[in-house]
Amino acid sequence: VLCLLHSTDPRWATTAVASLPELLADHAHCEMKAASNALSLATRWPASTRLAGALALIAEEELRHFRAVVEELDRRGIPLGKPEVDVYVAELRKASNISGKQTPEASLIDRLLVASLIEARSCERFRLLADALAARDHELAPFYDDLFVCEARHYTTMVELAIEASGGDEDPVRARLSVLARQESEIAARLGVRPLIHG
Ligand SMILES: [Fe+2]
Ligand SMILES: [Fe+2]
Repeated sequence: VLCLLHSTDPRWATTAVASLPELLADHAHCEMKAASNALSLATRWPASTRLAGALALIAEEELRHFRAVVEELDRRGIPLGKPEVDVYVAELRKASNISGKQTPEASLIDRLLVASLIEARSCERFRLLADALAARDHELAPFYDDLFVCEARHYTTMVELAIEASGGDEDPVRARLSVLARQESEIAARLGVRPLIHG
């Protein structure tokens, strides 16, 4: 799927569907984190109104996703609970920092590319969830179908914005994305099959 170099173990979807309350609560927090991350990036490159506008739009969409998942929690009597540290995201951010960043531009590009990988992985997982839920939950399966499409678009947008932030210099950005995608695949492969969106 997309730029991902490691496919999620199919057992992940089985575990996730068997632990739906835990998964949905984690999912709600993921959407909120995606919204606040997009908002925090929206003002990082004042020269580009396109970047600010595109990231604000993503933040709005993530916030809508958050509200939709919270409604599902409510309908099912599942508490939201406290946000846990997303080990996958934390490790991915750490891996991107190791290479050493010099300029604010390089830092922004990395953050956009890390966000694109998180979108890609979420997208892959939503596809697996939609398929695993298809025969069992006629409300959630189409919901994850819709989210799959949306997060795929976010992945593309994040990569486009990274290229724009680099002044349109596409090749180095694609090369950097490949490096980060390799790190992402190692992290995703190392993590178990916990019932978390990125677990
Ligand atoms: Fe989302
Ligand atoms: Fe997204």
